[in-house]
Amino acid sequence: MTAPKKLFVKTYGCQMNVYDSERMVEALGESGYVETDTPEGADMILLNTCHIREKAAEKVYSELGRLKALKLDNPDLKIGVAGCVAQAEGREIMRRQPAVDLVVGPQSYHRLAELEARAQTGKKAIDTDFPEEDKFEKLKSRPKAKRAPAAFLTVQEGCDKFCAFCVVPYTRGAEVSRPVDRILQEARELVERGVREITLLGQNVNAYHGTGHDDTEWSLARLIWALDKVDGLERIRFTTSHPNDMTDDLIEAHGTCSKLMPYLHLPVQAGSDKILKRMNRSHTRESYMRLIERIREARPDILLSGDFIVGFPEETEEDFEATLDLIRTVRFGQAYSFKYSTRPGTPAAERDQLPEDIKTERLHRLQNLLAQQQKSIQDEMVGKTVNVLLEREGRFAGQMVGKSEYLHAVHVNTETAKVGDICQVRITQSNRNSLNGDLIS
Ligand code: SAH
Ligand code: SF4
Ligand code: F3S
Repeated sequence: MTAPKKLFVKTYGCQMNVYDSERMVEALGESGYVETDTPEGADMILLNTCHIREKAAEKVYSELGRLKALKLDNPDLKIGVAGCVAQAEGREIMRRQPAVDLVVGPQSYHRLAELEARAQTGKKAIDTDFPEEDKFEKLKSRPKAKRAPAAFLTVQEGCDKFCAFCVVPYTRGAEVSRPVDRILQEARELVERGVREITLLGQNVNAYHGTGHDDTEWSLARLIWALDKVDGLERIRFTTSHPNDMTDDLIEAHGTCSKLMPYLHLPVQAGSDKILKRMNRSHTRESYMRLIERIREARPDILLSGDFIVGFPEETEEDFEATLDLIRTVRFGQAYSFKYSTRPGTPAAERDQLPEDIKTERLHRLQNLLAQQQKSIQDEMVGKTVNVLLEREGRFAGQMVGKSEYLHAVHVNTETAKVGDICQVRITQSNRNSLNGDLIS
């Protein structure tokens, strides 16, 4: 038998890329590859890329510049680019970096093995189609090996919303939902492999409208209720949601479905109606605030998370203050925030841009406020009892690390509990980005 070939995958961007990388490793397993955690010595390197901001895309080119040196030691090394930069810049990548052998867009991963075989013959291989067939249907079913207790499962892809700043509708294509049966089957297989928590993924996950076995369209809430009945699955999460797709049944599920965790990522981007309109967000500050109220009525202890963009074209100091004010009113336990980055081909890229120093200054102020909120919400956990799903061993002996239902990282002192256990923990201390606690049961 020949030794297995080594595959190194580096993942950038969102959780959907994390999930896709896992599936690509599995798919290339069929071609004789095993995953390795260093690029040195690999036979194939795959960068699964993100195009969301300019910096994210440029990182890929600088990484490729570094990696190409490895071809001097190993002339058989193949370098591939997958993900959203591959989709957006396709042939341009091969032109800018001739060391690249293979380019594959996010909708073509089921063709990866063929592309790899082509690259092995010394030819360039590229596929950035939006094929009719569903890549997940065509990908080989997943292996049975034991795995970590928390997993991602993509249920929906693409976006039809066309926010004025965003590349996703172009890189990931139109909104598509996977059929219910396939998702339930994959969830059961994950549970058999030791998974206890599944995070359902989609660029617009709450716009999910997959076909059920009764041939009707199911909402995300209905899918969650079906997953609720999967024995051995203990926790369900979903991300990322759009405010306009927070349907009544989904809000209600937060109050009634015990496996659905009290954490919701609901990006708002900005707090001024003028900017929201210019962003083509199709929701207002008021409609967002009302939504938050209703979600908190359903589940008072829910931890809210959001995304924010500062320095969008035409954002005045007053508009920016409106974003800070919205943050003060909502109180976010977690958040991601970015300076607006012009993306070629999107409507906002054509507009007059704000100076960089204003963007930088606003981002600082916004992040200071978010950090304060995050810390004070985390501090409020001290003395409370939470349930922690243990994901791995900690840095010190007798310590495990896991996630609470609110997605806080918790260090637990225990000699007996093991990975995959869900245990009751009393929080004793709030650190910078995590909590400490003692085992109760
Ligand atoms: N589908 C999700 C998020 C997709 S992208 C949603 O609608 O919320 C993740 C985040 O990146 C966005 O929420 C936004 O805050 C940020 N983002 C997207 N395009 C950006 C750009 N051009 N500049 C800066 N941030 C951007
Ligand atoms: Fe991008 Fe807007 Fe679609 Fe989210 S909803 S992926 S921000 S276009
Ligand atoms: Fe980035 Fe593509 Fe995800 S652009 S955020 S990897 S959908």
